[in-house]
Amino acid sequence: MAKDGNEMGINTRLAHSGNNPHDYFGFINPPVVHASTVLFPNAATMAARGQKYTYGTRGTPTTDALASAIDGLEGSAGTIVVPSGLVAVTVPLLAFLSAGDHVLIVDSVYHPTRNFADTMLKRLGVEVEYYDPHVGAGIAALIKSNTKVVFTESPASNTFEVQDIPAISSAAHAAGAIVMMDNTWATPLYFRPLDHGVDISIHAATKYPAGHSDVLLGTASANKACWKQLCETFYTMGCCAGPDDVYQVLRGLRTMGVRLDHHQRSALAIASWLEGQPGVARVLHPALASHPDHDLWKRDFCGSSGIFSIVLKGGQKQQHAFLDALRIFGLGYSWGGYESLAVPVFLGDRVVAKGPYDGPLIRLQIGLEDVEDLKADLARGLTAAAG
Ligand SMILES: Cc1ncc(COP(=O)(O)O)c(C=O)c1O
Repeated sequence: MAKDGNEMGINTRLAHSGNNPHDYFGFINPPVVHASTVLFPNAATMAARGQKYTYGTRGTPTTDALASAIDGLEGSAGTIVVPSGLVAVTVPLLAFLSAGDHVLIVDSVYHPTRNFADTMLKRLGVEVEYYDPHVGAGIAALIKSNTKVVFTESPASNTFEVQDIPAISSAAHAAGAIVMMDNTWATPLYFRPLDHGVDISIHAATKYPAGHSDVLLGTASANKACWKQLCETFYTMGCCAGPDDVYQVLRGLRTMGVRLDHHQRSALAIASWLEGQPGVARVLHPALASHPDHDLWKRDFCGSSGIFSIVLKGGQKQQHAFLDALRIFGLGYSWGGYESLAVPVFLGDRVVAKGPYDGPLIRLQIGLEDVEDLKADLARGLTAAAG
């Protein structure tokens, strides 16, 4: 790391963290190391595995550069870099859960996380239970003697409830369980999970770190106590990411601060404007004063990113009319890229956090386009829904 240090501003740290250009002839960016085989100078070194790099699956200068940059942002002891955000969820769960264990998962979790828990974790003999995102310290009443992991995601996928992470962490730790958090929405720029008691912070780096809708990648960053077990599982599973994708995400990190700032301002301007539109029943954005968890968000977060949801007046007919009328917003999953997107939200999988909502939900990802153009596009959608 060339000029790092927590005393520097975030954009300075994003610009200079991860690699030292003078480790590689002064080139600003680290080399993209394509590797399976690593050569050893002699048999003794090979027998002792006595050198920094031993095999492509166990790290390269490229993956180390990204992991080190993320460690600097998260305040973590170590970071694994994996091929997608979903892998960054599944590897930590597999690392810390065994047959007979109980896991508590927030009901408003990213749907594929729920699917993994309901299929693979259950098949492996893990007892899976979902809890209310507003449970807070009340999580203590749900923790059993075999509870090993409390999984959090805040704000919630699609409905944006904010969890009381410090209260949940202290209750979990008091009972000997560890806490994992999917922190993709805020990124470590706007919320640092480990500072609030979380043991493993998870990111779909596919979103804001990559930032251009062309790369899939995930990171999971652990505190000192959990790092060894997380890293061993990562090695055991061999789920390393490709070097070009790792490089692209490190490249994306350099501009993530300025991009996020733009996403934040545009999303807030559009969310506030939508609150005044007649076809909109509700706007679900935790940085708006109208959001029920706004005070909690303000207590713990230092910024907001570019996705939030709206509740439309009407039913599925209005939802489809709105989506079909959009010209700038694309209809597509994922988010965190430069372009605006809209998706219908499905809550049928939830057992606790179902609403009620007054109409159909639509999640909006506000990209880097001009706000006035995006408002005009959404106005077109609202007019179509009203018609
Ligand atoms: C909150 C959250 N976590 C994890 C993921 C998974 O990321 P990936 O698409 O890289 O698998 C997503 C993807 O949409 C997400 O929204």
